[in-house]
Amino acid sequence: EKGGYDYFMLKEIAEQPKAVADTLLGRIDESGRLALDEVHIPDHVLREIDKVVIVACGTAYHAGMIAKYAIEHWTRVPCETELASEFRYRDPILDQRTLVIAISQSGETMDTLMALRHAREQGAKVLAICNTNGSTIPRESDAVLYTHAGPEVAVASTKAFLTQLVACYLVALYLGQVRGTKWGDEIDAVIRELSQISTEVEKVLATMEPVRELARSLAEKDTVLFLGRHVGFPVALEGALKLKELAYMHAEGFAAGELKHGPIALIEDDLPVVVVVPSPRGRSVLHDKIVSNIQEIRARGARTIVIAEEGDETVVPYADHLVRVPATPTLLQPLVATVPLQVFACELATARGNEVDQPRNLAKSVTVE
Ligand code: F6R
Repeated sequence: EKGGYDYFMLKEIAEQPKAVADTLLGRIDESGRLALDEVHIPDHVLREIDKVVIVACGTAYHAGMIAKYAIEHWTRVPCETELASEFRYRDPILDQRTLVIAISQSGETMDTLMALRHAREQGAKVLAICNTNGSTIPRESDAVLYTHAGPEVAVASTKAFLTQLVACYLVALYLGQVRGTKWGDEIDAVIRELSQISTEVEKVLATMEPVRELARSLAEKDTVLFLGRHVGFPVALEGALKLKELAYMHAEGFAAGELKHGPIALIEDDLPVVVVVPSPRGRSVLHDKIVSNIQEIRARGARTIVIAEEGDETVVPYADHLVRVPATPTLLQPLVATVPLQVFACELATARGNEVDQPRNLAKSVTVE
């Protein structure tokens, strides 16, 4: 049932191009318009939404963080992303014009379920993004957009994450399309790129041997740091989470702009630091900032592991290890940039003799607080 792979996690990482393609299937029509009729929230309601709040836990929360960048950019509607466990015990301000998006692979996560109940009690509309048909979270939501990752068996989420991202992009682009913003042309272009993105994920998977080799060489390390900006920041958090849960290593993700506010004190000789570099096209300011961050940490002895777009030559002099990902629109980069981090964590776990599919102390579905 592992289809020739040693672990479910390896199989599920390899299944990502298909999971992404399946989640897009039937949702973009021939003219490049999004067809999300299944969502069942009338367009006039979506036009009146004045706030989006995303609630989720763990990896799904990282997908939600990325969604915030996409939603605010393409729709100009304010969006907050919050850990479901925090949200439910606060006194959040919601009303009928708030769209709450609950993201969950299992559809059974207690904190996320409680957060959505709380939101509905206050009159907010709830859209679930979920991978499990008929589970509790979609049953209790006003609408659902299913991810089609197929069953995810390994405790650490991989393919479900990529499909959660796809679903979030679809919602963001759809909201943009329905509401009509000045980004109309960009939205059309991104939909075209999104419809081809599974091929790009495939390309990343085909080039992972050096990442595995690098992971094995770091098996004796205690700490790995991850840095990113913009959508690369949640990707850094996700890379760190994967490493904690699988390799049982101290791993932390930071927004690169925060370095000088504390984390740079952690940098010491030969400390591995993974840096997610945004495209040099698109938002070049972001790119320039992160290149200076790489220089800063390297000057203090860090061993830099740089994830950068193909053709980006500016990073070459500062990268001790360079991992290439295909060029994508800025906001879509997490779909390709996360994959090497999953492979990295999985290989480090194996090298350290850990149980990859069943990490200690963790359960696949967290139905208690
Ligand atoms: C990490 C991981 C967890 C889940 C989290 C939410 O690899 O799998 O952090 O993402 O427990 O689970 P769902 O998505 O089922 O609500």
